[in-house]
Amino acid sequence: MSDSQLRVGVIGLGVGEAHIAGFEQDRRCRVTALCDIDGEHLAAVAARHPGKRTTTDPEMVLADPEIDLVSIASYDDAHAGQVIKAIAAGKHIFVEKPICFHDAEFAAISAALAANPSIRLSSNLILRRYPRFLRLKSLIEAGGLGALYYLEADYNYGRMEKIIQGWRGKLPFYSVVHGGGIHVIDLLLWLTGARPVDVVAMGTNIASRATDFRFNDTVAALLRFDNGAVAKVSANFPCVYPHFHDVTVFGTDATWRNGRDAARLYRSRDPDAAPDLLDDPYPGSLKGDLIPSFVTALLDGGKAEVECVDVLNAMAVSLAVERAAATGQPQRVSYH
Ligand SMILES: NC(=O)c1ccc[n+]([C@@H]2O[C@H](COP(=O)([O-])OP(=O)(O)OC[C@H]3O[C@@H](n4cnc5c(N)ncnc54)[C@H](O)[C@@H]3O)[C@@H](O)[C@H]2O)c1
Repeated sequence: MSDSQLRVGVIGLGVGEAHIAGFEQDRRCRVTALCDIDGEHLAAVAARHPGKRTTTDPEMVLADPEIDLVSIASYDDAHAGQVIKAIAAGKHIFVEKPICFHDAEFAAISAALAANPSIRLSSNLILRRYPRFLRLKSLIEAGGLGALYYLEADYNYGRMEKIIQGWRGKLPFYSVVHGGGIHVIDLLLWLTGARPVDVVAMGTNIASRATDFRFNDTVAALLRFDNGAVAKVSANFPCVYPHFHDVTVFGTDATWRNGRDAARLYRSRDPDAAPDLLDDPYPGSLKGDLIPSFVTALLDGGKAEVECVDVLNAMAVSLAVERAAATGQPQRVSYH
């Protein structure tokens, strides 16, 4: 262990357990500490990953000088505080989405990162690893769709129980945009290479209003990008519909539409012309799959698949959508 070039502590061991394999794919990187506030759960996970130190106190990991990188997979409302402490302790960070919940936290994180430019941060914006979306990105970059002018990305969660029974609905604040919609927001930023500037949005809680959940369970937003393209994004948690990223990309030469069996590429307006079927795996990726490129970037230099600026840009858009839904007023995206 001691000769590992990158020593990692994982905080929160739900999806965080999947982070372990992501880090340990590189022999130069070792997860040396595991943390979960639930002692019983910690013991169960630790038994599957022997030889690692364990603690129920995240502060012990965040302050540990023998840890170079913290991987944060605690509940969403703990991320911002843990990220800021990790920055103060000089550690690199892999953080589950969302990096924060509120504008003030976003400003504090952005300022802390700007003051500590040697710290690198990435996040688990995992749609970038789905083979189907990777193929779409290549197609767009090769000019196969022409100029993109309209995109739709619906985060159809299909897991009502997660907000009415699980930890999400018990937090003091919860946003389906930050908690789920941010995945498709990041996807649109990555696919287009453009940045949304203006946002309008509305939300509803019709599906969950008879429950204890106190926030919008569904939010729909329109975005206008700096290159003039427009997009519709939604976060729909209660849908009676299996979990799916309903994405459509309209270009001047072709239209790409995701489907359960395959994506379809329409190159013609003729209703009799069959679209190309693109059946690259969907999802086709594990939750730790973005981590190896971050480890390589840290140890060898170069770019990770998800860079800090990508994490901040997606969060900036998500915050603007949440503000627009809350105020009913158009919002400008504030990038840091
Ligand atoms: N990127 C993705 O695709 C993806 C998928 C699922 C979850 N997530 C994110 O991962 C995070 C965890 O979600 P989950 O599904 O693993 O939940 P989970 O309930 O399965 O696991 C979370 C674990 O973290 C522990 N925990 C909570 N707060 C903690 C804290 N302050 N310090 C240490 N441990 C803490 C809990 O005891 C629990 O064991 C959330 O932020 C969620 O949004 C991301």
